[in-house]
Amino acid sequence: MDDQESKPALQVSRREFVEVAVVSGLAAGVPAAAQTPEIKPRIVNCTFTINKQKQELQIDPRVTLLDLLREHLKLTGTKKGCDHGQCGACTVLVDGRRINSCLTLAIMQNGREITTIEGLAAGSQLHPMQTAFIEHDGFQCGYCTPGQVCSAVALLDEVKAGAPSAVTPRMGEIRPIELSDDEIRERMSGNICRCGAYEGIVAAVREAAGRRRV
Ligand code: FES
Ligand code: FES
Repeated sequence: MDDQESKPALQVSRREFVEVAVVSGLAAGVPAAAQTPEIKPRIVNCTFTINKQKQELQIDPRVTLLDLLREHLKLTGTKKGCDHGQCGACTVLVDGRRINSCLTLAIMQNGREITTIEGLAAGSQLHPMQTAFIEHDGFQCGYCTPGQVCSAVALLDEVKAGAPSAVTPRMGEIRPIELSDDEIRERMSGNICRCGAYEGIVAAVREAAGRRRV
Protein backbone atom coordinates (compact mmCIF):
# COMPACT_ATOMS: atom_id res chain seq x y z
CA MET A 1 0.00 0.00 0.00
CA ASP A 2 1.52 3.42 -0.94
CA ASP A 3 1.48 6.56 1.18
CA GLN A 4 -1.41 8.08 -0.77
CA GLU A 5 -3.68 5.22 -0.05
CA SER A 6 -2.75 5.09 3.67
CA LYS A 7 -4.00 8.69 4.41
CA PRO A 8 -7.56 9.03 5.76
CA ALA A 9 -10.08 10.92 3.67
CA LEU A 10 -9.98 14.73 4.19
CA GLN A 11 -12.30 15.66 7.05
CA VAL A 12 -13.59 19.29 6.89
CA SER A 13 -16.15 20.62 9.30
CA ARG A 14 -18.90 22.97 8.11
CA ARG A 15 -17.38 25.77 10.20
CA GLU A 16 -13.93 25.31 8.62
CA PHE A 17 -15.47 25.29 5.15
CA VAL A 18 -17.31 28.58 5.74
CA GLU A 19 -14.19 30.25 7.15
CA VAL A 20 -12.09 29.21 4.16
CA ALA A 21 -14.80 30.31 1.72
CA VAL A 22 -15.10 33.76 3.33
CA VAL A 23 -11.37 34.40 3.42
CA SER A 24 -10.82 33.32 -0.17
CA GLY A 25 -13.86 35.33 -1.26
CA LEU A 26 -12.50 38.51 0.33
CA ALA A 27 -9.10 38.01 -1.22
CA ALA A 28 -10.32 37.18 -4.69
CA GLY A 29 -13.70 38.58 -5.52
CA VAL A 30 -14.85 41.48 -3.31
CA PRO A 31 -14.57 44.84 -5.06
CA ALA A 32 -12.31 47.47 -3.43
CA ALA A 33 -15.23 49.90 -3.03
CA ALA A 34 -16.92 47.50 -0.60
CA GLN A 35 -13.96 47.63 1.76
CA THR A 36 -13.67 50.40 4.41
CA PRO A 37 -12.95 53.63 2.56
CA GLU A 38 -10.27 56.03 3.71
CA ILE A 39 -12.00 58.99 5.38
CA LYS A 40 -10.37 62.32 4.75
CA PRO A 41 -11.73 65.20 6.86
CA ARG A 42 -13.10 68.04 4.81
CA ILE A 43 -11.64 71.38 5.81
CA VAL A 44 -13.72 74.53 5.56
CA ASN A 45 -12.83 78.21 5.74
CA CYS A 46 -14.48 80.18 8.53
CA THR A 47 -14.19 83.70 9.83
CA PHE A 48 -14.84 84.58 13.46
CA THR A 49 -14.29 87.65 15.55
CA ILE A 50 -12.88 86.22 18.75
CA ASN A 51 -12.32 88.61 21.63
CA LYS A 52 -12.46 91.52 19.18
CA GLN A 53 -9.88 90.01 16.84
CA LYS A 54 -10.88 88.81 13.40
CA GLN A 55 -9.66 85.28 12.75
CA GLU A 56 -9.76 83.47 9.44
CA LEU A 57 -9.46 79.78 10.16
CA GLN A 58 -9.52 76.49 8.33
CA ILE A 59 -11.43 74.05 10.47
CA ASP A 60 -12.74 70.53 10.46
CA PRO A 61 -16.55 70.92 10.35
CA ARG A 62 -16.87 68.28 13.06
CA VAL A 63 -15.05 70.34 15.70
CA THR A 64 -17.11 71.95 18.47
CA LEU A 65 -16.72 75.60 19.33
CA LEU A 66 -15.34 74.55 22.72
CA ASP A 67 -12.62 72.41 21.18
CA LEU A 68 -11.81 75.09 18.64
CA LEU A 69 -11.27 77.59 21.44
CA ARG A 70 -9.33 75.30 23.76
CA GLU A 71 -7.43 72.93 21.52
CA HIS A 72 -6.80 75.02 18.42
CA LEU A 73 -6.69 78.61 19.69
CA LYS A 74 -5.34 77.80 23.17
CA LEU A 75 -8.02 79.92 24.84
CA THR A 76 -8.15 77.56 27.79
CA GLY A 77 -10.05 79.93 30.08
CA THR A 78 -13.22 78.33 28.77
CA LYS A 79 -13.54 75.04 30.59
CA LYS A 80 -14.75 71.60 29.58
CA GLY A 81 -16.78 70.05 32.38
CA CYS A 82 -19.34 67.56 31.14
CA ASP A 83 -19.05 68.11 27.35
CA HIS A 84 -22.79 67.36 27.27
CA GLY A 85 -24.50 70.69 27.90
CA GLN A 86 -25.18 69.97 31.55
CA CYS A 87 -22.74 72.02 33.64
CA GLY A 88 -22.25 75.43 31.97
CA ALA A 89 -18.47 75.43 32.44
CA CYS A 90 -18.04 76.04 28.70
CA THR A 91 -20.32 79.11 28.53
CA VAL A 92 -19.17 81.82 26.12
CA LEU A 93 -20.91 84.75 24.49
CA VAL A 94 -21.87 84.59 20.82
CA ASP A 95 -23.08 87.93 19.51
CA GLY A 96 -23.63 88.83 23.17
CA ARG A 97 -25.80 85.80 23.98
CA ARG A 98 -24.62 83.01 26.24
CA ILE A 99 -24.33 79.51 24.85
CA ASN A 100 -22.76 76.21 25.86
CA SER A 101 -19.83 76.00 23.49
CA CYS A 102 -19.68 72.20 23.86
CA LEU A 103 -23.10 71.92 22.22
CA THR A 104 -22.41 73.81 19.02
CA LEU A 105 -20.16 73.07 16.10
CA ALA A 106 -17.73 75.89 15.42
CA ILE A 107 -18.84 76.03 11.79
CA MET A 108 -22.36 76.93 12.94
CA GLN A 109 -21.00 80.16 14.42
CA ASN A 110 -19.18 81.19 11.26
CA GLY A 111 -19.18 84.99 10.91
CA ARG A 112 -20.20 85.63 14.51
CA GLU A 113 -18.58 87.54 17.34
CA ILE A 114 -17.38 85.32 20.15
CA THR A 115 -16.32 86.53 23.57
CA THR A 116 -14.59 84.25 26.02
CA ILE A 117 -13.49 84.95 29.57
CA GLU A 118 -10.16 86.15 28.15
CA GLY A 119 -11.96 88.88 26.23
CA LEU A 120 -14.07 90.38 29.01
CA ALA A 121 -11.41 92.50 30.64
CA ALA A 122 -10.19 95.69 28.99
CA GLY A 123 -6.44 95.20 29.24
CA SER A 124 -5.56 95.11 32.93
CA GLN A 125 -9.00 96.50 33.84
CA LEU A 126 -11.22 93.63 34.94
CA HIS A 127 -14.84 93.49 33.82
CA PRO A 128 -17.12 94.67 36.66
CA MET A 129 -18.54 91.15 36.91
CA GLN A 130 -15.05 89.72 37.41
CA THR A 131 -14.36 92.27 40.12
CA ALA A 132 -17.64 91.43 41.84
CA PHE A 133 -16.84 87.70 41.83
CA ILE A 134 -13.51 88.42 43.51
CA GLU A 135 -15.01 90.77 46.08
CA HIS A 136 -17.76 88.33 47.03
CA ASP A 137 -15.74 85.09 46.96
CA GLY A 138 -17.85 83.78 44.11
CA PHE A 139 -15.55 80.79 43.65
CA GLN A 140 -13.35 78.26 45.39
CA CYS A 141 -11.46 76.03 42.93
CA GLY A 142 -12.39 78.37 40.07
CA TYR A 143 -13.12 75.68 37.49
CA CYS A 144 -16.69 76.79 36.88
CA THR A 145 -15.90 80.50 37.22
CA PRO A 146 -15.23 81.50 33.59
CA GLY A 147 -18.58 80.02 32.61
CA GLN A 148 -20.31 81.59 35.62
CA VAL A 149 -18.91 85.03 34.79
CA CYS A 150 -19.80 84.87 31.09
CA SER A 151 -23.26 83.64 31.99
CA ALA A 152 -23.75 86.43 34.53
CA VAL A 153 -22.67 89.10 32.03
CA ALA A 154 -25.29 87.89 29.54
CA LEU A 155 -27.87 87.56 32.31
CA LEU A 156 -27.78 91.30 33.01
CA ASP A 157 -28.36 92.07 29.33
CA GLU A 158 -31.27 89.61 29.20
CA VAL A 159 -32.94 91.28 32.19
CA LYS A 160 -32.33 94.70 30.71
CA ALA A 161 -33.95 93.58 27.47
CA GLY A 162 -37.01 92.39 29.43
CA ALA A 163 -36.61 88.65 28.78
CA PRO A 164 -38.58 86.83 31.51
CA SER A 165 -37.40 83.72 33.34
CA ALA A 166 -39.48 80.92 34.87
CA VAL A 167 -39.77 82.89 38.14
CA THR A 168 -40.46 86.34 36.72
CA PRO A 169 -43.78 87.62 38.11
CA ARG A 170 -46.50 87.83 35.44
CA MET A 171 -44.00 86.67 32.81
CA GLY A 172 -42.32 90.04 32.54
CA GLU A 173 -45.42 92.17 32.03
CA ILE A 174 -44.12 94.41 34.79
CA ARG A 175 -41.14 96.43 33.56
CA PRO A 176 -38.40 96.78 34.41
CA ILE A 177 -37.88 93.25 35.67
CA GLU A 178 -36.68 93.25 39.24
CA LEU A 179 -33.51 91.21 39.58
CA SER A 180 -34.36 89.47 42.84
CA ASP A 181 -32.12 86.77 44.31
CA ASP A 182 -34.63 84.21 43.06
CA GLU A 183 -34.25 85.65 39.57
CA ILE A 184 -30.48 85.42 39.82
CA ARG A 185 -30.61 81.82 41.05
CA GLU A 186 -33.04 80.80 38.35
CA ARG A 187 -31.14 82.52 35.58
CA MET A 188 -27.82 81.08 36.76
CA SER A 189 -29.21 77.57 37.20
CA GLY A 190 -27.50 76.31 34.06
CA ASN A 191 -24.11 76.88 35.66
CA ILE A 192 -23.18 74.24 38.19
CA CYS A 193 -20.60 74.91 40.90
CA ARG A 194 -19.30 71.74 42.47
CA CYS A 195 -17.66 73.77 45.24
CA GLY A 196 -21.04 75.20 46.17
CA ALA A 197 -19.99 78.85 45.99
CA TYR A 198 -23.54 79.85 45.16
CA GLU A 199 -24.00 82.44 47.92
CA GLY A 200 -20.97 84.37 46.68
CA ILE A 201 -22.07 84.02 43.06
CA VAL A 202 -25.54 85.44 43.79
CA ALA A 203 -23.98 88.27 45.80
CA ALA A 204 -21.56 89.04 42.96
CA VAL A 205 -24.32 89.21 40.34
CA ARG A 206 -26.40 91.33 42.69
CA GLU A 207 -23.47 93.69 43.15
CA ALA A 208 -22.68 93.91 39.44
CA ALA A 209 -26.32 94.65 38.75
CA GLY A 210 -26.00 97.64 41.04
CA ARG A 211 -28.31 96.27 43.68
CA ARG A 212 -26.69 96.13 47.09
CA ARG A 213 -28.15 94.41 50.10
CA VAL A 214 -27.13 94.98 53.68
S1 FES B 1 -18.87 71.37 29.25
FE1 FES B 1 -20.44 72.34 28.15
S2 FES B 1 -22.13 72.29 29.49
FE2 FES B 1 -20.63 71.16 30.54
S1 FES C 1 -15.61 77.17 42.23
FE1 FES C 1 -15.14 75.07 42.12
S2 FES C 1 -16.66 74.30 40.83
FE2 FES C 1 -17.28 76.33 41.16
